[in-house]
Amino acid sequence: MSNLDSLKAQFNEYKSRGLTLNMERGQPADSNFDLSLPILSAVNETNYITDSGVDIRNYPGGVLGLIEARELFCEQLNVSADEIMLGNNSSLELMSRFLTWALLNGVKNSTSGWVNQSPRLIVTVPGYDRHFLLAQSLGFELVSVNMTPNGPDMDAVEALAKDDASIKGIYFVPTYSNPTGDTLSEDFARRLVNLDTAADDFTIFADDAYSVHHLEDNPQPAPDLLAIARETGQEDRVILFGSTSKVTFASGGIGLAGMSTANIAYWSKAMSAQTIGPNKAEQWRHVLFLRNYPGGIKGLMKAHAAILKPKFDVVQEVLNRELGNLDLATWTQPMGGYFVSLDTKKPVANRVVELAKEAGLALTPTGATFPDGIDPGNSNIRLAPTRPPLEEIEPAMEIVACCIKLASAEADVDGA
Ligand SMILES: Cc1ncc(COP(=O)(O)O)c(C=O)c1O
Repeated sequence: MSNLDSLKAQFNEYKSRGLTLNMERGQPADSNFDLSLPILSAVNETNYITDSGVDIRNYPGGVLGLIEARELFCEQLNVSADEIMLGNNSSLELMSRFLTWALLNGVKNSTSGWVNQSPRLIVTVPGYDRHFLLAQSLGFELVSVNMTPNGPDMDAVEALAKDDASIKGIYFVPTYSNPTGDTLSEDFARRLVNLDTAADDFTIFADDAYSVHHLEDNPQPAPDLLAIARETGQEDRVILFGSTSKVTFASGGIGLAGMSTANIAYWSKAMSAQTIGPNKAEQWRHVLFLRNYPGGIKGLMKAHAAILKPKFDVVQEVLNRELGNLDLATWTQPMGGYFVSLDTKKPVANRVVELAKEAGLALTPTGATFPDGIDPGNSNIRLAPTRPPLEEIEPAMEIVACCIKLASAEADVDGA
């Protein structure tokens, strides 16, 4: 039997199992959600007045969020309590408010809104499809730069921002990036905050969605972007985002935005024009729950890691076992976050996803990790092992490996 025929036979064997597996979206597993179940009863008829005397039922309380919640969540973004504002569920909603406001009215250092300036944003690829969707839907033109193991390709970012005033900012994930798992290095962080930009109001929209989502016991600390920016007086350029979506409940949490105190003053006014304040009941029950959780947020994130790490280990184990010596693909080995990013050597990602679907495994559609859904190399596949139960990861990854082998062998026959 030829190599292609034996791979086809193996593929048909997987297909005949009639499996229904899904590694498509980066969602927590039910066992992750279960860790936070006490949140549902943390607030009751007897404890709706906060420590500082705010009645969570009524309007007063401020646009920035409860002080107790700001004191609790500031560590997630590595800022102080006076440098954080809280939003509703979710960070994407907060990001959309900031980007929309920037278009209409500008950011703190703007003289006008960006909408009439043909605004462009730098994004990293492979990257997060919802960033692309949000920014493009609002009218931003996206300019892609590669994500490297140290963060956005800074040579490319510097070249783009230097002469073009329509480049208004960069939108990326600084810690355990979606999907590569890469984290910004200190050197790249310095280059980023000190960028020489044609636009006076260039803004770093850093979506730190995975800032506390470590898989290893001794994580490498991500650079403190705001502190590094402060060293050279560039702190007003940086806006950090995050949320509790993968800390407590993905739907039913709190959005976070970290920034300089001068930016807090600017963005408080922007928020006050839009809302009397974010959902205090949600904040207060998060405070009561997390205060009582052993080890607080850090303790909870360790419990999440205990569930997630074995899944990521199986992904690596199967990829190494099945593809380690074949030169058909490379993949990332993230120390945290929610994804593994795999690149096929041949331009066969589309075919791999198609074959996997036929064999009963849903994968993130190819192209999703690039603006307009077009992966120029047809090579990137985002693997999301967090949601399925542990026992489903091995068969799912065996199908991935088999489909990569088969698609690559087909391409050899086609002369690709
Ligand atoms: C980088 C990144 N940002 C934001 C989100 C969504 O966050 P939220 O639920 O806070 O809107 C995700 C979810 O996968 C993500 O990967």
